[in-house]
Amino acid sequence: MSRPDGKPLSAPERRTRVWDPPGDATESAAQLALPGMAEEVSGEWTWTDDGGEMEPADYVHATVMRGEVVQALAPRTGGVYVDATVGGGGHSEALLEADPSVRVIALDRDEDALEASRARLARFAPRVAFVHATFGSVADVLRELGVATVAGLCADLGVSSPQLDLPERGMSFRREGPIDMRMDRSSGETALELVGRLDERDLANVIFRYGDERRSRRIARSLKRAYGEHDLHTTLDLRRAIVRGVGPVRVGGVDPATRTFQALRIAVNQELDELEALLRALPGIVEEGGTAAVVSFHSLEDRLVKHAFLRGEAWAPLSKKPLVATEEETAQNVRARSAKLRAARRLPEGPGRPAR
Ligand SMILES: C[S@@+](CC[C@H](N)C(=O)[O-])C[C@H]1O[C@@H](n2cnc3c(N)ncnc32)[C@H](O)[C@@H]1O
Repeated sequence: MSRPDGKPLSAPERRTRVWDPPGDATESAAQLALPGMAEEVSGEWTWTDDGGEMEPADYVHATVMRGEVVQALAPRTGGVYVDATVGGGGHSEALLEADPSVRVIALDRDEDALEASRARLARFAPRVAFVHATFGSVADVLRELGVATVAGLCADLGVSSPQLDLPERGMSFRREGPIDMRMDRSSGETALELVGRLDERDLANVIFRYGDERRSRRIARSLKRAYGEHDLHTTLDLRRAIVRGVGPVRVGGVDPATRTFQALRIAVNQELDELEALLRALPGIVEEGGTAAVVSFHSLEDRLVKHAFLRGEAWAPLSKKPLVATEEETAQNVRARSAKLRAARRLPEGPGRPAR
């Protein structure tokens, strides 16, 4: 399945693709047209120009470990807190509700998230500042705002439900969309551009390192071939090329594309570099006695946070082991199952404290 002229999509062309089924074929039949799952259905594809706009009210993300994060930060009267990943605004809301004198600096690299959280937190308006920025640059953001240190910071890593679920974000292999995967659609390289730029070996390394995928070489070869043949246009094309490399076998019930999609998303958004930059900046921006709390969702992230909090001289971890979500929460929110919360208190100034 390819675009009518057979060329990859250019940036302005990255739009929602609409299925125009033949006769009585349904959209869900088209969605099932995945290798190893169902027969492809023939029909017409047209590209609409809606640009994937979403209304704030459509942004629904269930906040993970909301109570635990706020309890770890223990908001103090008059304290200024950074929510490094405001998303739909759940953690910020909990902080703002905890004490009427608390103020929050809310960061996100995704403008849709900022718009949604601005709407949700409108009632706290004078107490929240929204900033479109990556958390790796949090020290610069605070400097520009004229804030020396903050009483605490929380970060709820990874992607939000809307980012994962909206086809036009290109992060899901279950929904057809452009091969984008950027959390910030205003800048940076898309996943398709990344696949085109990296050579086969580097692509395999990305898939192995960030996806923990043993079959990375075969997948990289298949992706490069599909790219070279102008066969990669949508997320379903990407999944098809992955399946072509390794076969439609599900390992432990997991779709063969799962790990590669995760790896490409992490690479496109430089998620681990961002986290490392945040962890480096933290001791310089959290005041003595203040707290940093980070919720992570995979072992690569958790390892970095654990290392920073347990080994660094700057921190006293609130617990040696990470906190996990309650059974009640995981029963309601599948995403919470892999969440790990680590929190640490900033130790008093010492020789090891990095300068800002
Ligand atoms: C899991 S969601 C946060 C959900 C939020 N805590 C809530 O309650 O709705 C993660 C958010 O972090 C943002 N994000 C991820 N990496 C980021 C980074 N390096 N800098 C800034 N924002 C980032 C994503 O765009 C997304 O909106």
